Amino acid sequence: MAQVKLNNLIKNYGSYQAVVDVSLTVEDGEFVALVGPSGCGKTTTLNLVAGLAELTSGEIQIGSTVVTDLDPKDRDIAMVFQNYALYPNKSVYENLAFPLKMRKVPKAEIVSKIASAAKVLDIEHLLERRPRELSGGQQQRVALGRALVRDPKVFLMDEPLSNLDAKLRVQMRTELKRFHTELNATVIYVTHDQLEAMTMADKMAIMNRGILQQFDTPAAVFDNPANTFVAGFVGSPAMNLMNAQITSIEGTIVLKGDDGWHLQLSEENNSKASNATGHKVVVGIRHNGIQISPEPDKNAMAARVFAVEPTGDITYVHLRVGTSPIIASVSSDVHFDANQDVWITFNQRKVYLFDGETTRAL
Ligand SMILES: Nc1ncnc2c1ncn2[C@@H]1O[C@H](COP(=O)(O)OP(=O)(O)OP(=O)(O)O)[C@@H](O)[C@H]1O
Ligand SMILES: [Mg+2]
Repeated sequence: MAQVKLNNLIKNYGSYQAVVDVSLTVEDGEFVALVGPSGCGKTTTLNLVAGLAELTSGEIQIGSTVVTDLDPKDRDIAMVFQNYALYPNKSVYENLAFPLKMRKVPKAEIVSKIASAAKVLDIEHLLERRPRELSGGQQQRVALGRALVRDPKVFLMDEPLSNLDAKLRVQMRTELKRFHTELNATVIYVTHDQLEAMTMADKMAIMNRGILQQFDTPAAVFDNPANTFVAGFVGSPAMNLMNAQITSIEGTIVLKGDDGWHLQLSEENNSKASNATGHKVVVGIRHNGIQISPEPDKNAMAARVFAVEPTGDITYVHLRVGTSPIIASVSSDVHFDANQDVWITFNQRKVYLFDGETTRAL
């Protein structure tokens, strides 16, 4: 397999910028998930790597070769799409053999490649069946097999699991991960599902409006989001984000929320807040960094319970601070009622602060 280097990729459609100066390196054998909301440029980026869309500017390197001006067929990549479109009238075996026959691969080699791909993907017993005689997950494995027999330098996958039902998707995630580990394959995997990316990828490339927001391991992206976009995108439920102004009360910094709340910060968070460009900051806190009390407390914010959502394991408490929605969690043996007045405090070690103007982490 091979390393993939994207250098300053730009793709414009007329005056619209679909990919804005994206640079990153996928190491040999790495599984990188390209994630972001609909329309952020994931498929376009993948198509640029595949050679299916022409770069406006930038350079792409696969292994030691600059492939920017090469045809898709000469880039030594294999793509797996959401609509994997197997040939309905061909058997699984023939579906796998077809791309190899087209490339005039010798018969003996075709036989052995299919045998080893079928083994990795556990479809040896399905080779004589037609696609309609397969489950969705089995069809997906055949589509993967079709990419696998090509022995590519890189696998490019665009939402390959999105046509499957929820249960099968979870199962296929594990299978894809195993496939990646066994083959030591270099994979660029597009998904809009951050959870899928978190569970499968060695690294996540998070995009928004054509711009790469952060490129790091799932743990690093979760623990240290680079900006408010990443903070709100990664993690479920999403991190609570609250706008505030930096004010000073009797010499100490106090954050004043748009909804009238006040928050005094720890020393460490104080010095972070003092790095803000202006007076605006965004306070971030995940559900598990919030304590809820039925009684007023020093430095607590008044809130009202909006809805209570038990999940068996933990209970999510949906709150309103003024008009802003906040999600907190409590253990399943703690009870709150809708419309109850409560007071919330933040674990200062779990408080994130972002610059209100640049949205960057402070
Ligand atoms: N051929 C094209 N001509 C003009 N605009 C295009 C073209 N292809 C894509 N775009 C635009 O570029 C942007 C990025 O599209 P892209 O398909 O890369 O998004 P995506 O991140 O894959 O989204 P999704 O999750 O919905 O698949 C979108 O705004 C889209 O409308
Ligand atoms: Mg897409």
